[in-house]
Amino acid sequence: MKAKKILVVTAAGSGVRMGAAVPKQFLELGGKPVLRRTIEAFVRACPDIKVITVLPKDHIPFWKDYCRHNEFYCPQTIVTGGITRFHSVRNALAHVPEDSVVAIHDGVRPLVSESLVRGMFEKMESGRIRALIPVVPMVDTLKVLDRVRDDLGNEILAESVGERVDRSRIFGAQTPQLFRAEDLRAAYSQAFDVAFTDDASVAMAKGIPLSFCEGERYNFKLTTPEDLALAEMIVSCQDRAVR
Ligand code: C5P
Repeated sequence: MKAKKILVVTAAGSGVRMGAAVPKQFLELGGKPVLRRTIEAFVRACPDIKVITVLPKDHIPFWKDYCRHNEFYCPQTIVTGGITRFHSVRNALAHVPEDSVVAIHDGVRPLVSESLVRGMFEKMESGRIRALIPVVPMVDTLKVLDRVRDDLGNEILAESVGERVDRSRIFGAQTPQLFRAEDLRAAYSQAFDVAFTDDASVAMAKGIPLSFCEGERYNFKLTTPEDLALAEMIVSCQDRAVR
């Protein structure tokens, strides 16, 4: 029997770097909230997926209202977020069934493709993989710099002598990150550590072997107003192409 597919969509951040009045996951992108676009990408890829949406406590009524009044009928379990992303995921795990494959995805990565999602679940179904993480190679040259003060006391960036990064070995980790439910539960039973910046780092600390696949340039995390402007352009091209 095939394992159940679960999406945990983390959308409980405040999104301060975007500088908007509402958290970035609720901003409109091509006429729909970012979070709706994110969830729809998974539902299109895997119509049988169960969705667990993690939200800021104060925005739960808003999201329920939005879904009701805009005919967004995807069945979701709504969970209150925690103080960090780690705590938000941990809250969601209480609702994850046994023997399932779980994709954890940032609510602010709405441009993930159906083919990436479908392909990753298929790889997990082979049964040989414990955790699957999409990564993209670095295209920029990387510099190690120190923040120092100049003679006038202003903070400047200065070269860190002798430190060089071999770009060919550095990759950016994206989401969705896929795990077996039992591994995820074991990983998230650990105490929080500030080094846990994604689910892969939590799993790695528990000794769960990680596998990697090619991520996608368009699957970037909406962080700044420039990211949102870029996403608008991509969505308008995509929407025109399907018309
Ligand atoms: O802050 P950052 O951009 O790294 O957040 C990545 C994702 O994790 C976002 O979708 C955000 O809403 C979510 N998050 C969360 N709970 C938190 C902090 C962030 O679900 N406490």
